[in-house]
Amino acid sequence: MGNEEKRRALEAALLKTDELLDSFSDVLRQDFSGKPHAVRDFSETVKKLVPEEKPEVTVIGKPATEPSDVLFEEISKAPDDERLHMSFDSLLSDAKKCTRCGLCSTRTNVVFGTGCKDRPTVMVIGEGPGENEDLQGLPFVGKAGQFLDKWLAAISLSRDRNVYITNTVKCRPPQNRDPYPDEKQACFAFLKQQISIIHPQTILCVGKPASTLMTGQPDASMGSLRGRFFFYDGIPMICTYHPAAVLRDPTLKRPVWDDLKKLARYLGLPAGGS
Ligand code: URA
Repeated sequence: MGNEEKRRALEAALLKTDELLDSFSDVLRQDFSGKPHAVRDFSETVKKLVPEEKPEVTVIGKPATEPSDVLFEEISKAPDDERLHMSFDSLLSDAKKCTRCGLCSTRTNVVFGTGCKDRPTVMVIGEGPGENEDLQGLPFVGKAGQFLDKWLAAISLSRDRNVYITNTVKCRPPQNRDPYPDEKQACFAFLKQQISIIHPQTILCVGKPASTLMTGQPDASMGSLRGRFFFYDGIPMICTYHPAAVLRDPTLKRPVWDDLKKLARYLGLPAGGS
């Protein structure tokens, strides 16, 4: 290292020290009068020494012009005229009568959604109801659902408290086939309204049908969409693999866990287990 470089490094270090001394003096000025057991609060100093991690994000498309563009990719804005201010109950009763696509002719129950309906921390969007879900009228109640509940618990979430769970289509596709694009589009009217009324803090898409629909990228692979933050109508959204896919292929566990930790970090939630 040459002298010039050493001088610059020393100057940077002294500036940092100066900044830290400022924050120490804030700590020393803390008023302990009448609080014999008070403990000095060094949290601001610690934040300066070790800055909080920001979620890693991917930006595609046009170059960023504003700081928010740098963090998230704006995907979709529902036009105002489509944001009917319907109540949740009237939306649900419309869904129960729905004949917008052929899936209505083979369903036992409309599987609308379950969980916290008032600004949940996360809204999970899956693919579509399977056999158990169709019979019970509830989403994610089979093996994949139990696995999903474990994922949620690992990042301090649960459908009983702070998660709402729904699907791209509300009626079971026969033989559990993927929903067709026209079926997803027909049902998207309900999903959009659900998101608008329930107003989740974040969205977690599990699996390709939900991820491609919600990001507006019908031909994208799951590998290219997972682990990235998007914005759906102003709501931060992340995509990952479907629990059923992970049950079939355990090598997907690691990327799913990485994606869940990213979401937890964004939400400031503790993430434990694996
Ligand atoms: N898989 C899904 O995508 N949704 C369900 O509700 C159940 C299984």
